[in-house]
Amino acid sequence: MEVQSPNSLLTKPEASIDLGKVFVETYGCQMNEYDSGIVRELFRKENYGNATSVEDSDIIFLNTCAVRENAHAKIYSRLQSLGYLKKKNPNLVIGVLGCMAQNLGEDLFHQELPLDLIVGPDNYRSLPELIQKIRGGERDVQLTRLSKTETYDELEPRVVNGIQAFVTIMRGCNNFCTFCVVPYTRGRERSREPASIVNEILKLEALGVRQVTLLGQNVNSYLHDQEDFSSLIETILSETTIERLRFTSPHPKDFPLHLLDLMAKEDRFSSQIHLPLQAGNDKVLRDMKRSYTKQEYLDLVDLIRTKIPDVGITTDIIVGFPGETREEFEETLDVVRAVGYDMSYMFKYSEREGTIAKRKFVDDVSEEDKSSRLIELVDLQSSISLSKNRERIGKVFNVMVENTSKKSKVELCGRSHCGKMVVFPIPEGMGQNLTDWLGKSVNVQIDSVTSATLRGHLV
Ligand code: 5AD
Ligand code: SF4
Repeated sequence: MEVQSPNSLLTKPEASIDLGKVFVETYGCQMNEYDSGIVRELFRKENYGNATSVEDSDIIFLNTCAVRENAHAKIYSRLQSLGYLKKKNPNLVIGVLGCMAQNLGEDLFHQELPLDLIVGPDNYRSLPELIQKIRGGERDVQLTRLSKTETYDELEPRVVNGIQAFVTIMRGCNNFCTFCVVPYTRGRERSREPASIVNEILKLEALGVRQVTLLGQNVNSYLHDQEDFSSLIETILSETTIERLRFTSPHPKDFPLHLLDLMAKEDRFSSQIHLPLQAGNDKVLRDMKRSYTKQEYLDLVDLIRTKIPDVGITTDIIVGFPGETREEFEETLDVVRAVGYDMSYMFKYSEREGTIAKRKFVDDVSEEDKSSRLIELVDLQSSISLSKNRERIGKVFNVMVENTSKKSKVELCGRSHCGKMVVFPIPEGMGQNLTDWLGKSVNVQIDSVTSATLRGHLV
């Protein structure tokens, strides 16, 4: 759920002097990035303009996250910093969307912030109407009703970053892990119609997209009529020519085994799995309501590795969950060593409003212990990533070129099938522009590595 996300929109804004220009700023996960695209698309269809900065806007939306500790604080300070624009332009409308809007609701109106509108993730279709209400004089407008059916099927945000795009296939979550606010902010699971997903992918292909990541809070719970996640994948593979398919995130408790066979045999399917662990001790896992034991998780990893030997596995881990002892934390370290993740997203537990853990447990691990456990875990993961990457020196990886490298315009980067970022210089005598390479699959032999990146040369 935590991978970096793109932020460009390939829709054509139709500027409208009457209605004004909309700016959407995104915080949090890829799902939010996708939802911001839905909001932009909605306003584009209503003939609003598309602003390029907050200064240039008539309507500003902050699409927010509520998952971790500093998510709220970031939004409060961003809203405060937008206050000066409201003084300059009293007609400016500022709205908070997303998980924090759903999580805090009208409380947000009681904090002296420059804020007109609060709208939850299931209510974006009403946004244009709500804007008109505000323009008609209504104040403190709020809509945070969760829906059992809203999937925004026909609103295709086309959030494209070069050759890569995201497509949401399901929304919400029924798992209620005790630490997590998502079931409250995004509501119950519901899946998009397969035909609508296929259609969206076909349109993305027409825009030059070669690689699609399927998004959902819990993708392996995808179910639409009789079609489950594995059969959706089969449908996508047979009805589109998309070259690489990824997904995030599955839950370890009900990983579809048929999917592993598909991943093993199908070259267009990336051999990369994000498998959130959260903790390595059985009592902590039980208290988190994760529905698997340490051994069941390790058995699943073994099975995945047997079926897909070159698989890249990444994870999410929380340290300092209520009651976690030093010994219990050490079991998390044991799992990290045993699995040898390629990469982990690691967090200190932070109590979230409305969650079961907040009601049931005392947040009793000291800040000091949380911090030192996090540092220890991050150090361990970095050394594992580095040593795994060192084993890759000399090997050849097939890479789909995504961009120029962050550091240099004469270096290209892209991902291997197992999800590793690979950087290589453009050889002399070959096309020196990104456009000569974008989306091409090339073979790169690895010469040197860091814990995050492989560097090599074209072969
Ligand atoms: N505290 C710390 N980390 C959390 N996450 C979710 N809720 C919390 C919380 N209350 C982490 C989990 C999840 C990732 C997206 O964020 O590891 O998988
Ligand atoms: Fe949150 Fe658990 Fe659902 Fe993931 S599976 S979104 S951690 S409740």
